[in-house]
Amino acid sequence: MKFCDLMRLFARPQPICEPGRVADADDLAALHAHAFRHGWPATEMEALIADPTVMTVVAREGRTPFTRRPVGFIMVRAAADEAEILTVAVMPTRRGRGIGRLMMDETIRRLYFMRVASLFLEVDEGNGPALALYRHLGFREVGRRANYYAGGTANALVMRADLK
Ligand SMILES: CC(C)(COP(=O)(O)OP(=O)(O)OC[C@H]1O[C@@H](n2cnc3c(N)ncnc32)[C@H](O)[C@@H]1OP(=O)(O)O)[C@@H](O)C(=O)NCCC(=O)NCCS
Repeated sequence: MKFCDLMRLFARPQPICEPGRVADADDLAALHAHAFRHGWPATEMEALIADPTVMTVVAREGRTPFTRRPVGFIMVRAAADEAEILTVAVMPTRRGRGIGRLMMDETIRRLYFMRVASLFLEVDEGNGPALALYRHLGFREVGRRANYYAGGTANALVMRADLK
């Protein structure tokens, strides 16, 4: 066997995106706690995953279905032809490798088939990685909420992407 074939055998497999399951609640709560100052408890995660108006997309890594674990997730609430991103987070050690982009692509694909026309989100204007991700996907600023985050010192941008 050639060296490059051997390397491929041991390389980390690409993450896959799947719908979230109630059994993911603990893992998603842990991912959320690493990403945000105010964590959401597992019970809240469980309720959101089970909510029929909320779509949860989870990126999982692992060689087999039994060893795959969540490394990132997105939650989106949809109503009629509009949807809003509630949260998106990638495990700190797995950031900057395209997982956020992969999950967003999958989420937008699913929303498109649900006939959602506009996708909204709110982001801290100082959050460079998130802004890069959103802008590359075609999100545009449609509003600004002054002194919205972190004890009233950071502004929130409201952004929208048109899916049709
Ligand atoms: C925002 C977040 C989800 C992005 O996930 P990610 O897997 O690291 O993103 P990706 O690797 O797919 O990168 C997406 C884009 O952002 C850019 N990017 C990623 N990390 C970056 C960084 N630290 N600085 C600048 N740009 C960055 C990439 O270059 C990429 O651009 P491209 O599409 O042109 O290649 C992740 O950083 C995260 O979990 N942050 C904490 C939680 C958070 O802030 N969520 C958003 C709240 S609104």
